[in-house]
Amino acid sequence: MKRIVIFASGSGSNAENIVNYFNSSQIATVTHVLSNNEHAKVFDRCERLQIEASLFDKESFVKDDTVLNFLLVEADFIVLAGFLWRVPSKIVEAFPNKIINIHPALLPKYGGKGMYGMNVHKAVKENKEHETGITIHYVNENYDEGAIIFQASTALSENDTPETIATKVHELEYKHFPEIIEQVITKHG
Ligand code: GRF
Repeated sequence: MKRIVIFASGSGSNAENIVNYFNSSQIATVTHVLSNNEHAKVFDRCERLQIEASLFDKESFVKDDTVLNFLLVEADFIVLAGFLWRVPSKIVEAFPNKIINIHPALLPKYGGKGMYGMNVHKAVKENKEHETGITIHYVNENYDEGAIIFQASTALSENDTPETIATKVHELEYKHFPEIIEQVITKHG
């Protein structure tokens, strides 16, 4: 059984969806959730789901090797689900093809620093895009630039608001993210 550690900075609805999906998987299970945000709703979800969750700070992530050493012992795959910090290269290098992120737009559009959460959906709306979607990709040291694994799109109309765009994107995320994680684990496990 491969062990998945999820990183999440906020609500954690994707994290919850992934935990539930892998509860009935034969190949992998979510063993731990890590968050950089003590107020993140993901902690409440983990309590309800009975998944171990820990808070970490920038020092232990970037400066010393606390998080790296934890992952080396505890993780086979790492999933970023709404995680907002750049992953340091020592962690990227330790987990080649084993760190997966989801971005709520069709990269390379609407990626990079500052392009997260509602900022993305507001920019999509402002630019009057006819479609948006999700991108699931491997993680490298640059924001949103790792090799793309999977994309799915959804049509937009002029009546869509940043909020309805967010809902459409979340639907795609819930539908596809766990399955794509499972495929990657099967391929690289
Ligand atoms: C998702 O839209 C994800 O793509 C983005 O941040 C959002 C996180 O939502 N990176 P949640 O915390 O999983 O509810």
